[in-house]
Amino acid sequence: MRHSRLLSYVAAIPRKVARRPGTPTPDHGEAADLAWATHPQIRRVTTTELGVLMQMKVALVAGCAGTRSLRDFGGLYLVHGKYLLEPAVALGAEFASMIDLTPRTEFAAAIEKARSTLPGLEVEFVNHDFRDPELYKSLRAVDTSILFEVLLHQENYISVLQSVASKTERYICIAQPCLKEAMLGLPGSASLLQFWPESLKNNYRATYWPAEPRTERFDTASWMWGHTVSHLIAVMHGIGWIVDDGEIIETVYGQYWDYPLLRFRRE
Ligand SMILES: C[S@@+](CC[C@H](N)C(=O)[O-])C[C@H]1O[C@@H](n2cnc3c(N)ncnc32)[C@H](O)[C@@H]1O
Repeated sequence: MRHSRLLSYVAAIPRKVARRPGTPTPDHGEAADLAWATHPQIRRVTTTELGVLMQMKVALVAGCAGTRSLRDFGGLYLVHGKYLLEPAVALGAEFASMIDLTPRTEFAAAIEKARSTLPGLEVEFVNHDFRDPELYKSLRAVDTSILFEVLLHQENYISVLQSVASKTERYICIAQPCLKEAMLGLPGSASLLQFWPESLKNNYRATYWPAEPRTERFDTASWMWGHTVSHLIAVMHGIGWIVDDGEIIETVYGQYWDYPLLRFRRE
């Protein structure tokens, strides 16, 4: 199929699915009930406040009881280590590690602020691509790992999760926008949305999904994946981790997106 024909085919998929006779079209509540039926510990939350969401991200990590060491994967853009350092202080941690491709000078001030309350906190910054399996050979294991708004930008996110899990003793925290279950219909689904036609993306833009420059190659700066919550849970199950606790905000990223905040532990 030629490229332009492929794009117009992809653009027409939502109409084709909606029109197919006999295709079940569950509403979001129904689809989510089916997908999350075995996870009654996940609570549904309603807020439209970004500030509330940010505090929930801090609280998810700060709630990882017994954590003495933690690592944030991609925690610098805009937030300068907030989701690593504020929980580290709340937990009285000894070691905090940040891995990010893009250094931010503001991180130094955030470290100083954390150390003013917790002087003994050791902080590591690793300026490296966390898709690289070689990286993990030299990393210290930590109690808790944080993956906030990064998995949707990685073409090899399952391999990243396997690597992260190999260096995590207790908890993995994941938070990011996910397509609502009803958008993809069946539990465990994900869509490679980076290469959707731009007109289709524009219809589904979440509140904070910027119109990135188009690229036809995988690019971690772009929104690449539309995971569903059930897809993330299924992937974690596949590598031997289960949901310990979690919340799903159904309203903060617009009508097509859920925002899960999930804490996993080993099965
Ligand atoms: C969308 S921001 C998320 C920032 C923060 N975690 C949050 O929740 O607001 C993505 C961050 O991850 C970093 N990043 C993305 N992919 C990466 C990779 N493969 N290796 C290292 N850093 C990466 C980017 O430099 C950026 O700081």
